[in-house]
Amino acid sequence: MKVLVVGSGGREHALCWAIANSPLLTKLWCAPGNPGIATTAECVAIDPLDIASLVAFAQDTAIDLVVPGPEAPLVAGITDAMEAAGIACCGPTKAAAQLEGSKTFTKELADAASIPTALWERFDDPDAARAFIRKRGVPIVIKADGLAAGKGVTVATTEDEAEAAITAIMDQKTFGNPAIIVEECLQGEEISLFALCDGQTALLLGSAQDHKRVGDGDTGPNTGGMGAYSPVPSFPPRLEEACLEAIIRPALHEMARRGTPFRGILFAGLMLTEDGAKLIEFNVRFGDPECQVLLARLQSDLLPALQAACDGELGDFDLRWTNQAAVAVVMAARGYPDAPEKGSIIKGLTEAAAVQGVTVFHAGTQAGPEGTIQAAGGRVLTICATAADVSRARTKAYTAVDALDWPEGFCRRDIAARAAE
Ligand SMILES: Nc1ncnc2c1ncn2[C@@H]1O[C@H](COP(=O)(O)OP(=O)(O)O)[C@@H](O)[C@H]1O
Ligand SMILES: [Mg+2]
Repeated sequence: MKVLVVGSGGREHALCWAIANSPLLTKLWCAPGNPGIATTAECVAIDPLDIASLVAFAQDTAIDLVVPGPEAPLVAGITDAMEAAGIACCGPTKAAAQLEGSKTFTKELADAASIPTALWERFDDPDAARAFIRKRGVPIVIKADGLAAGKGVTVATTEDEAEAAITAIMDQKTFGNPAIIVEECLQGEEISLFALCDGQTALLLGSAQDHKRVGDGDTGPNTGGMGAYSPVPSFPPRLEEACLEAIIRPALHEMARRGTPFRGILFAGLMLTEDGAKLIEFNVRFGDPECQVLLARLQSDLLPALQAACDGELGDFDLRWTNQAAVAVVMAARGYPDAPEKGSIIKGLTEAAAVQGVTVFHAGTQAGPEGTIQAAGGRVLTICATAADVSRARTKAYTAVDALDWPEGFCRRDIAARAAE
């Protein structure tokens, strides 16, 4: 099979790394990829949102399967465009990608399918939103209704914070669409659950917990994700299965009933509340770095599973996973997330990758002069380690981090610390 992965982050490096192991693979491309990906795939300089060029490349190269990593091309319709050109694409159509593209869509779907989720209300009028929030009081959650690159949600603990969020989204139109959703604030532990879907069947890919804040002890601004681990001790397999049944399967059935079946990776963000697990949101692709820890534990060949998801044939599928734990630590460039420094040289990559059980995935890297690797983005590397338990995997990951020689980079030092105790 000839395969094209779309994207350039640590997630896409992990996808390429897993697919490259498949005996079914004849050749792997990645658009646009990065220097780490270039060791397993041929990188082609096409932007993930330049869908017309991606389709033309896939046709010219006779690609058998396209695997998009990020949400933006999915929401923009890459799957529809590939399928129209007769090319299989392991992701949802534009209509099904609304599960991530629109918070209103997902809340309505959750209610229609009796999926447990926070109580919610949608507002187009800022004064009505303000009156509602004064009546309900804090804490309360305010969300922009569209893709906001992880910056559209405020968990307000004071009325001033709620007011500032309404002003930014509704008056200043910071995210384009001025509509908001106001939600009941759920309390509990947050978990991410992943399933591979073929329109009808959901195959469990496991669960992970990520660390969104930039600083140790969950301090500082939100980021794309500073680390993750899997499995999560507080979310055992029987709970995973229960959430698959109560949250993911009803969503799949409702999407199929509406004539917009969901294929691809469905990622349920869950809150484990005192009243049971509740849906926070769906994403229509792997998380980054959750993808890295999940795929590090996968023993089966990923490629036929992705193909079966496109073909509606996941029913008889089974995936095998190691009993090992995986921990991923993200290395970011100094200044991330506000203003990451670019151009610093990263040394010690070979030494880090030589730590037993460790894989170094690239994200924001670029090839520098004389064979060097430079930082070229905010999140730059994912150091992913597997071992018998979370505690040992953690130790290995940080051993590899310490083998790097990159003074301009930093990471959180408490990834998976609570789970390791
Ligand atoms: N109803 C809620 N109650 C409590 N916390 C919430 C709620 N909704 C969202 N959050 C918090 O805000 C974060 C971001 O919200 P989410 O809906 O996942 O939006 P996005 O990932 O698109 O920014 C969640 O990971 C969670 O920590
Ligand atoms: Mg989220």
